[in-house]
Amino acid sequence: MEQISSSVIKKDHFSKVSGQAVYAADYSKDEVLFGQLLRSAKAKARILNISVPKLPEGYFVVDENDVPGVNRVSIVLDDTPVFAEEGVEYIGDPILMIVGPVEETVQEIITKIVVEYEELKPVLDLRESDEVFFEYNYGKGDIQKAFAEADKVYMEEFETGYQEQAYLETNGLIAKIQDDGKVTINGSMQCPYYLHGAVAKAMGATADKVQIIQDVTGGGFGGKEDYPSILACQAAVAAYKVKKPVRVIFGRREDMEFTSKRHPSLTKYRIAVKGNKVTAMDIDVIYNSGAYTTLSAVVLQRGLICASGVYDVPNLKVRGRAVKTNTVPCGAFRGFGAPQTFFAVETLMNHVAKDLGIEALELKKLNLVKQGNFTSTSGKYHFPVPLPEMIEKVSEVSDYLKKHKYYNRSQAGRYRRGIGMSMIFHGAGFTGSGERDHIKAVTKLHKYPDGRVEILASNSDIGQGIKTTFSKIVAKELEIPLDKVICENPDTDRVPDSGPTVASRSLMVVGELLRRAAVNLRLNWIPGEEQVVEEHYKEPDFMTSFNMDKFEGDAYPTYSWGVIVIEVEVDLLTAANTVIGAWASFDVGTPIDVNIVTGQMEGGLLQGIGYSSMEYMTADKKGRIRNNSYSDYLIPTSLDVPNLMVMLHAEKYPYGPYGAKGAGELPLVGAPGAYIEAMEQALDTDLNHIPFTAEDTMKVIMGEK
Ligand code: MOS
Repeated sequence: MEQISSSVIKKDHFSKVSGQAVYAADYSKDEVLFGQLLRSAKAKARILNISVPKLPEGYFVVDENDVPGVNRVSIVLDDTPVFAEEGVEYIGDPILMIVGPVEETVQEIITKIVVEYEELKPVLDLRESDEVFFEYNYGKGDIQKAFAEADKVYMEEFETGYQEQAYLETNGLIAKIQDDGKVTINGSMQCPYYLHGAVAKAMGATADKVQIIQDVTGGGFGGKEDYPSILACQAAVAAYKVKKPVRVIFGRREDMEFTSKRHPSLTKYRIAVKGNKVTAMDIDVIYNSGAYTTLSAVVLQRGLICASGVYDVPNLKVRGRAVKTNTVPCGAFRGFGAPQTFFAVETLMNHVAKDLGIEALELKKLNLVKQGNFTSTSGKYHFPVPLPEMIEKVSEVSDYLKKHKYYNRSQAGRYRRGIGMSMIFHGAGFTGSGERDHIKAVTKLHKYPDGRVEILASNSDIGQGIKTTFSKIVAKELEIPLDKVICENPDTDRVPDSGPTVASRSLMVVGELLRRAAVNLRLNWIPGEEQVVEEHYKEPDFMTSFNMDKFEGDAYPTYSWGVIVIEVEVDLLTAANTVIGAWASFDVGTPIDVNIVTGQMEGGLLQGIGYSSMEYMTADKKGRIRNNSYSDYLIPTSLDVPNLMVMLHAEKYPYGPYGAKGAGELPLVGAPGAYIEAMEQALDTDLNHIPFTAEDTMKVIMGEK
């Protein structure tokens, strides 16, 4: 193990375990007004009239007419209104905000407002949508020839559901207008500069008149990537109108029902096989965006790039659409479109193997990509693909093959078992040339006369440990103790824009910039003097630029790899499906802190097991999400933690700090394929959707599937 990998006490450990860490809800409630949103009760409607009761002194209505800039939230496109105009597009669409000094009174006023709607026919099912927000088509080879020459052709459909990020801390922000007119926002978020851009546009303010400060954030998982931009604009407009600080912190129900989630999907595959080689795939992917575009374009891009899995498919045709429905807008969630398609392709490969009469593992091994092969988008796998060694390791510790053969024999008795394996990658960092063309990350190191060095970067620590790993890199390169490195929560007045905390880019991309800055500072170190060094992102020279129109080229500089085995036991009497073991190997390059990486992998595996098996969320016939509490939306608890074994494989990436690449997404991307293969074995049937819950198990047992 590299020296940098050995674990340290996390930078935020003591403040968090002692309860001293300050979250948005911990700020004094004196001198702030409470804001609460009135949300649409209809999935699609025109607003005819809004009757607000006479407000007590000190209470305000804030709506679209109060937006000083543009009534749009700048995310990727600018279609999300800050407050509704003449119509509403989903149940929960924000119409106005009531602001006032007593929280209960604000809530009471909200319940007394009467909105008259002219109801329109909503589109609630992605199959029925005829409004395509984004469409991409790409491919390679000669698909027709490959299908014509195939020994066998298979067709299948797969479906995946919503997933809620279920962070510990709900969304919450506080906005105030300073004496000089500057808008300052603090609170829970992943991407301070995303909020910065959105607020400047909605407020009609120049960049220097907007300041965003991240507070200690209780988890994000993507759920605080795009959503806080919306809330920030609303809170800023409110503070501007009422001339006092405004605090908006969501309750759990509001957060679960109305903030972004993972896109539900429907994928259709046609696959050609010759001998034991997959020669072609023809894939159609549809993601349910919900009512506004938010991050659907980029989520879909990643999903499509992953649609052919870790397999070398010479002839490929992929069509993907993100469609509009009158449901809650979906956004970023750990894995960002990849869990949906990886589940589909892994399950498809299992079904093909079954039909061919060979072990799924054999079929997969025969079709794996190798270093130097083309990627799905005709880029290259530039670096070694360590999957074969990782498969060996995970097979060995889980006894996969033996169990898989054993459980394939007809099982008797009340309890049935199954075991499954999936293999996946995560394209590390932004898709395409976003890093080079849009983000253009900048970082700084500020050395104080006393020899302490402060990291100036906009990446937020949302529990993933970036304060600690950034600090370790800088301390190592400068050869100074860890406690001489300062890493505060980002404040856009103090830190340059080093981009968002997303896509496992922070450590790989910004961590490397910090390492280079530290080298520079070490070489030019003047004792006793204040010094500042700065680093700018440069795209690695080995990359073929990704062409978004052709959907061609290196979508990612490098890839992290994962192999996951999951074993289940099903109780045929109660239909309880229990994960009894999970074994995995993850190649994240050099782990910058073994405990942090292992913790992320274990947590992600559980989140992936939840996504696959119990996290069921759906909209009812009117378009309302009913699973808005943890009694109606089940996530794994400590009692659901199986025997977990996480191993790390370190295939170093020469352009990442000390060889590090992306980590966080892998376990979530890979869990569904392994879980479903295991459930199929236990139930002796083919399955094609997640989550596959106890209720679904009961349907199979009762023969109702
Ligand atoms: Mo994200 S889904 O926070 O890259």
